[in-house]
Amino acid sequence: MSANQLDKKSEAWSALFSEPMSELVKRYTASVDFDQRLWRADIEGSLAHAAMLEAQQIISADDLAAIRRGLAQIRDEIEAGRFEWKLDLEDVHLNIEARLTQLVGDAGKRLHTGRSRNDQVATDVRLWLRDEIRSIGGLLSELQRALVEVADANADVILPGFTHLQVAQPVSFGHHLLAYVEMFARDAERMADVERRTNRLPLGAAALAGTSFPLDREQVARTLGMVDANGEPCICQNSLDAVSDRDFAIEFTAAASLCMVHVSRFSEELVLWMSQNFGFIDLADRFCTGSSIMPQKKNPDVPELARGKTGRVVGHLMGLLTLMKGQPLAYNKDNQEDKEPLFDTVDTLKDTLRIFCELVAGITVKREAMERAALRGYATATDLADYLVKKGLPFRDAHEVVAHAVKAAIGQGVDLSELPLATLQGFHASITDDVFEVLSLAGSLNARQVLGGTAPAQVRRQIERHRQRLG
Ligand code: ARG
Repeated sequence: MSANQLDKKSEAWSALFSEPMSELVKRYTASVDFDQRLWRADIEGSLAHAAMLEAQQIISADDLAAIRRGLAQIRDEIEAGRFEWKLDLEDVHLNIEARLTQLVGDAGKRLHTGRSRNDQVATDVRLWLRDEIRSIGGLLSELQRALVEVADANADVILPGFTHLQVAQPVSFGHHLLAYVEMFARDAERMADVERRTNRLPLGAAALAGTSFPLDREQVARTLGMVDANGEPCICQNSLDAVSDRDFAIEFTAAASLCMVHVSRFSEELVLWMSQNFGFIDLADRFCTGSSIMPQKKNPDVPELARGKTGRVVGHLMGLLTLMKGQPLAYNKDNQEDKEPLFDTVDTLKDTLRIFCELVAGITVKREAMERAALRGYATATDLADYLVKKGLPFRDAHEVVAHAVKAAIGQGVDLSELPLATLQGFHASITDDVFEVLSLAGSLNARQVLGGTAPAQVRRQIERHRQRLG
């Protein structure tokens, strides 16, 4: 077969086929429109494979040199946008291999020795995803740092903490933001964990059973940086598993879904806080849009969209799980369908994290509105109960006493702290003048000095810890 004949996919396979594919089937089965995105990983994998073939004396030094030269030119062509992707050649792998053969002749045809597109594509996706996971890890650190900065500036700002979206107890706004830092820190841990299982080498599995060529899989793994923390090569240990499972992609999408769910919860709060009924924050204009009919509107589009895009990523997780569930061993073409959801998950997550790094830094905190809201809803009722406990009452009795006090305050339309001392003493004789400190928002916060509590001093300790951790 001449180099030029590789322009047709059917000729890249074998002479077995006696009729061409219809245009529809070609379009249906081709993946090059989207998997060309894997080109860099494909070339990297091929270079590592070729170097090993030469070291194992399976191909000659001249062949290796020709392959390197050809792949370097292909890289330049793709980078310059000059590479001609052909639907006829189905996918990124056949496109690059065909061009290589066109450029360097027989050496290009020897590259595929001991390799199949099945272990090749599994390797490409793993290499590509590994690098994306690393960049997502960087973005997660950046977002945490941005949140820590805003938390630091607002450690003393008080807003109502809610349970059931009913005013519960006052909390520090910094503390509230640090809750998200914890979530994103766990997301980063999950990503790092997924990376360990993604960064393993399928090459050598060939189509499904391994190969009769004496491949040095450890060398290839080392060349591709598929090594553990001790520098030991990480290799898929069963050829059937290596080419067929996409659990690493599913795990990644699960971790991405959780991360998006965290972003979505935060988004929901931003949307609520920005509404006129709360008025706790403002978002910079560049993250909002107006209305074509209502001139007064400023809508928090970015958090709303992030909340919406969470559905799309969770959908990809469902798609990938369903893609996998009925497949017999080993490789099946179904797996070609792993790419679009995976790519879209990466794009959506990265864009969302990037935007949120900026958006967080641009939040305007409306301190007075937050504190005013914290003064409504008897947020310090628990503090009064704790106060009575410290005076010797059993907690359940104290709870009951405070319920009566709150009922009276509601009747008079005032806060607990606005009831005269004599009235408060009417509920329990042990109440003295020092109760007003306890009933103040700042007093309530400062009382919560337990590790992980909302006292500003504790919040500052956590900020310090996060800063050390994030470097
Ligand atoms: N484009 C294919 C995929 O993404 C590559 C592997 C094709 N292997 C095969 N035996 N047809 O899965």
